[in-house]
Amino acid sequence: MKLEVKLLGQTFSNPLLPASGPSVGSLHSLEFFNDSKVGGIVTKTISITGAKVKKPCIVASNHLVYNTELWSELPLTEWYKYILPELKKTLKKPLIVCAGYTSEDFEQSIPVLEEYADFFEVSTHYGKDALKDLVTSICRLTDKPVFIKLSPHEQDYLGFIETAISCGAKGVVAINSVGPGICVSLKNRAVTIGVNEGHSWISGPAIKPIALQRVMSIRRHYPDLPIIACGGVSTAEDVLEFILAGADLVQMLSSALINGRQVYDQIVDELPFVMNKYKIDSIESLRKTPLEIIPKGKGGFPKIDQSKCVLCNKCVKICPEMAMSLDKVIITDPSRCIRCGLCESRCPTEAINGVL
Ligand SMILES: Cc1cc2nc3c(=O)[nH]c(=O)nc-3n(C[C@H](O)[C@H](O)[C@H](O)COP(=O)(O)O)c2cc1C
Repeated sequence: MKLEVKLLGQTFSNPLLPASGPSVGSLHSLEFFNDSKVGGIVTKTISITGAKVKKPCIVASNHLVYNTELWSELPLTEWYKYILPELKKTLKKPLIVCAGYTSEDFEQSIPVLEEYADFFEVSTHYGKDALKDLVTSICRLTDKPVFIKLSPHEQDYLGFIETAISCGAKGVVAINSVGPGICVSLKNRAVTIGVNEGHSWISGPAIKPIALQRVMSIRRHYPDLPIIACGGVSTAEDVLEFILAGADLVQMLSSALINGRQVYDQIVDELPFVMNKYKIDSIESLRKTPLEIIPKGKGGFPKIDQSKCVLCNKCVKICPEMAMSLDKVIITDPSRCIRCGLCESRCPTEAINGVL
């Protein structure tokens, strides 16, 4: 089972990387990833001065994370004088350095960060006009490949990417957090975290479909553009879905904030088993397989494999038409069933087939 990914002259032992955020904002956290099984490392966004972040700033539920973080709270000097030189001494994998935010910042930061970066990643919160100056200025300062991180709020994202490429960007990271949203504390009768009218930014499994759509659409328009997917990954299956949608590499942050940092190694360990289950030889071959956009499911009535059914009754409870019932075994009433597929998608033992 081949997990390796070669991209723009770098070799990643597998496609999973951390995403920019608090988990990669200090030497000890970067060292954790250096010793873990992820294929590469990404830093928190580095700017000239450290961000002043109003606390509290991160809250999670089971399916999403709210945050009001900005960029690294440590200044540029701390990064290039201490953190990155120390990390470099033992570095075992490619390093993506995230830099922000303006052309003036880059004049100072890129020359001192250059020797540590295999790729640069630049997050963008600007319109296309500002983007031109931004990408041109960073690409003038470095020969290292520059990846532009896409905000999900960019409506004309293909035009945005076209502009970035024409100014020298070599790839795209899709996507950043979604929002604004609000997170409410009933206890305090106030937003739990929030800036500027109580706004916070949303990430984690809840945003995965949006990230998948962007990755698939960008891949269909740019067959050879390096794409790093980001947004909502929590399992080895998710990583493979993003590769099938067209990603070369896949970043993850929020699921580790929700469930713990051990998920990185768990996912890398599980990748070969999931690849085996779906008959995938290598990440490279999956990446080259086109994702079909016409559903291939049969759309028939649900068939119950009684040898797999554990009579948990989930399909009975969730069927919106109340077409399933338990009478010693699960039975479907075809006069009610609308062949929607919900029961098959939620059966915990994969005992239902024939619809999806
Ligand atoms: C607490 C927190 C801090 C973040 N800080 C940064 C950052 O400094 N720079 C950046 O480009 N993205 C930042 N992000 C966005 C993530 O890198 C990522 O794009 C987003 O969370 C979606 O991925 P996920 O669902 O796997 O978390 C941050 C996200 C969170 C939750």
